[in-house]
Amino acid sequence: MCGIVGYIGKRDVAPLLLEGLQRLEYRGYDSAGVVITGKSGVLKTVKAKGRVRELEARIPKRFTGTTGIAHTRWATHGAPNDENAHPHLDADGKVALVHNGIIDNADDLRAKLIADGVEFTSETDSEVVVHLIGRSQADTLEAKVQEALRRIEGTYGIAVMHQDFPDRIVVARNGSPVVLGIGDKEMFVASDVAALVSHTRQVVTLDDGEMATLKADDFRTYTTEGSTTSATPTTVEWEAESYDMGGHDTYMHKEISEQPDAVDRVLRGRIDDRFSTVHLGGLNLDPREARSVRRIKILGCGTSYHAGQIGAQMIEELARIPSDAEPASEFRYRNPVVDPDTLYIAVSQSGETYDVLAAVQELKRKGARVLGVVNVVGSAIARETDGGVYVHAGPEVCVVSTKCFTNTVVAFGLLALHLGRIRDLSVADGKRIIAGLRKLPAQIAEMLEGEAEIEKLAAEYAGAKSMMFIGRVRGYPVAREASLKLKEISYIHAEAYPASELKHGPLALIEPALPTVAIVPDDELLEKNRAALEEIKARSGRILAVAHQVQEKADHTIVVPKNEVELDPILMGIPLQLFAYHTAKAMGRDIDKPRNLAKSVTVE
Ligand code: M6R
Repeated sequence: MCGIVGYIGKRDVAPLLLEGLQRLEYRGYDSAGVVITGKSGVLKTVKAKGRVRELEARIPKRFTGTTGIAHTRWATHGAPNDENAHPHLDADGKVALVHNGIIDNADDLRAKLIADGVEFTSETDSEVVVHLIGRSQADTLEAKVQEALRRIEGTYGIAVMHQDFPDRIVVARNGSPVVLGIGDKEMFVASDVAALVSHTRQVVTLDDGEMATLKADDFRTYTTEGSTTSATPTTVEWEAESYDMGGHDTYMHKEISEQPDAVDRVLRGRIDDRFSTVHLGGLNLDPREARSVRRIKILGCGTSYHAGQIGAQMIEELARIPSDAEPASEFRYRNPVVDPDTLYIAVSQSGETYDVLAAVQELKRKGARVLGVVNVVGSAIARETDGGVYVHAGPEVCVVSTKCFTNTVVAFGLLALHLGRIRDLSVADGKRIIAGLRKLPAQIAEMLEGEAEIEKLAAEYAGAKSMMFIGRVRGYPVAREASLKLKEISYIHAEAYPASELKHGPLALIEPALPTVAIVPDDELLEKNRAALEEIKARSGRILAVAHQVQEKADHTIVVPKNEVELDPILMGIPLQLFAYHTAKAMGRDIDKPRNLAKSVTVE
């Protein structure tokens, strides 16, 4: 969603800010803007509805300076237009602010400010903050910002410049990420390391309630109450190239093709052949605690929720702990019973998804133990949880998740094996699962080699108005995820059902114009799945099966390599990522930036 970039140093700031904004485009946005301190010391602002390239086209020739902040906006309060784009200025045009998050009491504050004679130029909640800062009588910019923050309720990541304090940018965080990038006599700030890594890999991530003052050759961090905090820079794991397209036509294609290496990474250094188990260093759950867990509840949204559903099945099968997954967005609103013997696991690729973070915070408040299965190291959810497993998929730029989904499911496989071996999973079964895990990278590579065939199939099915996805037990979350992937990027309506539920309703939809994608693994439910194919065929439905062997009743079968049954869901989803990709491509869709969607949903 919204993105922030800022710079203070000696270089010409506008090109740096535009480059940073381009690197944040993947998060989703609908307008962009930039403010710099011009040569005369006056703030100069340019804003544009639409893409960063439209903002760039509006930047005048002499737009030079060495300090500036910029923003990509995802509309929440007010339409996407030039006026509502950030940065916002106070009434005197001396203070500029960019803001990510939502100010809950904006309406009240706006009414009070209007009563005091303030004229608003936008419909945004963010504008109230800049007016509060501008009207503060405090002596320093830091104190002005603190005074304003004391009056607002809600979430924010903000960056503020003030014409009377040209040597600094002040930033603050509460619920919306703010990362400082430390350069050589220059400082950067961004809401996402993607905007920083081409300049520096030394970063400091602010905590909620923390602020920072950035000067060209120095920075300091402190709380919104003014107490100094210690900030030790860490090194970002990924090189700038990891955020580039690397010769692929889309990030989605690049990320699908990276999966053999990504899966290799999530396994690396974790397998313990001696005890037929795995080591998960950051779990913070000793064997005695692991044995006392009576139930596991997994929480995530979208694709991560689907990965959690597969994870719950793996844990239940391998560790025999009753487990289930639930959308975090629902869980947090239903006043759930929080049971001390239940282990909660929050799943998130970005580690920023607000619904997941809010669920974690509610659980922590009630004293629950919460682990994280997260991709982005040091992200809000990773830091809020008591321990967890990083999925090490590497940066995922495409809005739709592919490699992170796969790595998350593999991470759940590791967790299930770990818990299983602490409980009742035998050494022999441990060995069997480890052998299966080790086969995954090569098997994924083998499947990716079949891309040309999948492309042909996608061309055949691309004309469908609607598609049905079915699977049973282990195959059902795979069907759900494949259906989500297809609808996200092709905009073809897709439904996912357990194959067992067909005759309880959805069979009524089956006809030649509604193709069905069926997940048909060679497991104990093979014959039951085949019966479902028969039922569809009897109603002249077209079938594309994803199976371990060619399915007679299907019009087409994508054959996937066989692994251990518990690990089947990891492999069966991969050809369907390519299927969604090629279907969307055949339809001319903007694959990396599907309409109405953002990569990280950091607001409600
Ligand atoms: O970053 P998260 O994994 O927490 O994101 C959760 C969902 O918003 C995300 O998975 C979404 O469903 C993607 N568009 C999936 O492709």
